Amino acid sequence: MNIHSFARKKADRQKISMVTCYDHWSAKILNETDVDCILVGDSLAVVMHGFDSTVHATTEMMEMHVAAVRRGAPDKFIIADMPFLSCSKGLVVAMDTVQRLMQAGANAVKIEGDTHQIELIRHIVEAGVPVMGHLGLTPQSIHNLGGHKVQAKDEEDANKLISGAKKLEDAGCFAIVLECIPTKLGSCVAQRLQIPTIGIGAGPHTDGQVLVLQDLLGVNPDFMPKFLRHYADNHTLIRQAVNHFHDDVMTQAFPSLAESYR
Ligand code: KIV
Repeated sequence: MNIHSFARKKADRQKISMVTCYDHWSAKILNETDVDCILVGDSLAVVMHGFDSTVHATTEMMEMHVAAVRRGAPDKFIIADMPFLSCSKGLVVAMDTVQRLMQAGANAVKIEGDTHQIELIRHIVEAGVPVMGHLGLTPQSIHNLGGHKVQAKDEEDANKLISGAKKLEDAGCFAIVLECIPTKLGSCVAQRLQIPTIGIGAGPHTDGQVLVLQDLLGVNPDFMPKFLRHYADNHTLIRQAVNHFHDDVMTQAFPSLAESYR
């Protein structure tokens, strides 16, 4: 996968798959899968560090996780999230963040929001760095949105989102994530843009789908939003495996002689 493959896939009506990844061992497994691309999302602040929102992701965190993922997945196209406020503190801070994420191993950066980011996106793209947009539910603005809710449900907001998506395309974005919007709107944006849309909670008609790896692996049974499908029950699997190990240690069934040095 490279920057041109995204447009080609859309032109060929082939779907695009993306999963998040934050660490080296998962990246090694993903490198052996068919998944099209990896997002080192700022959701790592929640999933890996236990914070209550992505507001807590920092450039240092993002840089460290991007580098770990790149070492594990040398063959994958990696997109890295620009963390909270890194795009709102002026050009120098934004470009410094882009540089750090790209030098850590990213192939592209992702930026949340539209109108206030257009000039910056243009600048980053002109500097030679591919940019992925992100519209709909933009978790970095969670306090302004008033929680995790489906966005752009009325006609006025839907039209705003459509025109925002068009502006992102015109500014040079190579793809756009659409998060938590009605299916009809997801379909409409996908039809109106030349660049691919990658949905999460945006229905089946976007040009691709993205999920958080831990969510699709079923690591947290308590997190089950409507858009999510668990492809495995790793919560049970990991708990059972660790309890099995514990029991074997208690009963001295582990280690066996074959697992010990002479
Ligand atoms: O940070 C993230 O994981 C994301 C996805 C939900 C698209 O932005």
